[in-house]
Amino acid sequence: MPKHTFRLNGEQVTVDVADEERLLWVLRDVLGVTGPKYGCGINVCKACTSHLNGRAVNPCAVPVGALKPTDEITTIEGLADTVDTDLHPMQQAWLDLDVAQCGYCQPGQIMAAVALVRRVAEENRDITEADLDGIRNICRCGTYPRIRAAIRAGAAKM
Ligand code: FES
Ligand code: FES
Repeated sequence: MPKHTFRLNGEQVTVDVADEERLLWVLRDVLGVTGPKYGCGINVCKACTSHLNGRAVNPCAVPVGALKPTDEITTIEGLADTVDTDLHPMQQAWLDLDVAQCGYCQPGQIMAAVALVRRVAEENRDITEADLDGIRNICRCGTYPRIRAAIRAGAAKM
């Protein structure tokens, strides 16, 4: 099988899997990185949200063969290392506001939140209600009001 090399949470990794194998299964089943959750597997629920070069992506929709050796994948496991603290400010905001219920969707929610805040900062503006509406990560526990509050709190510390 072909070998694929990319960067994962700051380290170079190489896996020996078929080109079309989706990144979510490579992360979880081959590399043992289980922060990105399997929800739908078809690019809808966003439970698997992680970052590709700083942008939110759904690894269940990314064939591993599409990755370049220089591509940086960040999962919830590597998020705090991007700011060199024990917890990323967005994770701390999540704790401060006690956002999670069952927790299943929450890694994806936090990764989507951080990507949103970064994008808005690049555009040199504040987060709007429309930006928050644009986060489509599903939470079956209905924690949406606390998620929205935590994004604003975390953004203020990023
Ligand atoms: S598992 Fe990836 S979008 Fe649902
Ligand atoms: S906290 Fe349970 S699915 Fe979101």
